[in-house]
Amino acid sequence: MRKSIAILDSDVHQRTHVSVMLQATYGVHGYGAWSMALPAMKAEHPDLILIGHQVGECSGVSAIRDIKRDRQLNNIPVVYIADRQDTRLRDQLLLLGVKAVLVKPLDPRAVMAVATDLLTSDVEKSWQELPPHQRKVLEDTLSAFNNMARGLANGQPPEIGPINEACSSLVDAMAQHELAPLLQKIRNHDNYTFVHSMRFAAFIGLFARAIGLPKPMQIQVACGGLLHDMGMMIVPPYVMYKQSALTPEEWKQVRNHVATGHRLLQAMGQVSKGVEIIVTQHHERLDGSGYPNGLKGDQLNELARMAGIIDVFCALTDRRPHKNPMSAESAFETMATTMGGQIDLALLPRFREILLESGSKDEPEVVWE
Ligand SMILES: [Fe+2]
Ligand SMILES: [Fe+2]
Repeated sequence: MRKSIAILDSDVHQRTHVSVMLQATYGVHGYGAWSMALPAMKAEHPDLILIGHQVGECSGVSAIRDIKRDRQLNNIPVVYIADRQDTRLRDQLLLLGVKAVLVKPLDPRAVMAVATDLLTSDVEKSWQELPPHQRKVLEDTLSAFNNMARGLANGQPPEIGPINEACSSLVDAMAQHELAPLLQKIRNHDNYTFVHSMRFAAFIGLFARAIGLPKPMQIQVACGGLLHDMGMMIVPPYVMYKQSALTPEEWKQVRNHVATGHRLLQAMGQVSKGVEIIVTQHHERLDGSGYPNGLKGDQLNELARMAGIIDVFCALTDRRPHKNPMSAESAFETMATTMGGQIDLALLPRFREILLESGSKDEPEVVWE
């Protein structure tokens, strides 16, 4: 179900500004007055509350006190939006139980990251049911991924070290045939890019293993999977999460994620050719219709072809807020019948086999879907 966020702020511009950042992903309700916000929140019980400096007749701080005293509302996480840096106020708010303090001017990615962090706790809590070594794979990968997103928001290229470590654990899990429960446990995570990249990393890692690449190469290839869409983190959120058709200019911004990803890779240094191929060629297609360079035929090696297949497969079978995921079999069918010239039809059944071999034969859908 779509999570909901209440935004409490007298300043209508600020309310609208924050709503625009979040409304593509979450249900957002804005309130300019405390007298309206309180009964509405009691009736609707939002999943997260964002509060500004003033909420109509009431200061943000006293609104938070009221929320924390209210038995119906006191479990809802609260984030405060401060007008400026103020360490004393921050300490006071944290003592009151505020989960995070954001400072104006707001960075849309920071707002989204805080909301995602606070709203995905149910899924992450369910990881506690996994054996410790499996839980660690998910926690390490998510934390490497989130740190990468935060770093990029601050203009820093990702560090390969934590990504490498997380992918090393992922490859170990793969060798132990433990991918199925791990992928199952991330399916409903709100961070779409994380889920997509993690599935991509797992599937391309399986491919590397199936063609007999040694473990260090499998790790490299999985890293390429986890990083393949990092350029997307620079695409404006309103484009990323837009539900209606994109304008030609917005499409250009989306397609640009490949060039951005390549630039970030160069800034990271020390990345292998395999990682570079996955990041730069996963949208190239055999008939030259792909981007960014319209490579075709022999210009695309087996890894690039597999990356193309996996990206399409993941896009079709990923769970999104407003799209039912296609079943794995329907995805294979669609790809085989409608994408003949674009993808390597000899590799497609091989990929299907690899997925089947990787999970319990009784429940292959656990791995795929
Ligand atoms: Fe991509
Ligand atoms: Fe992708």
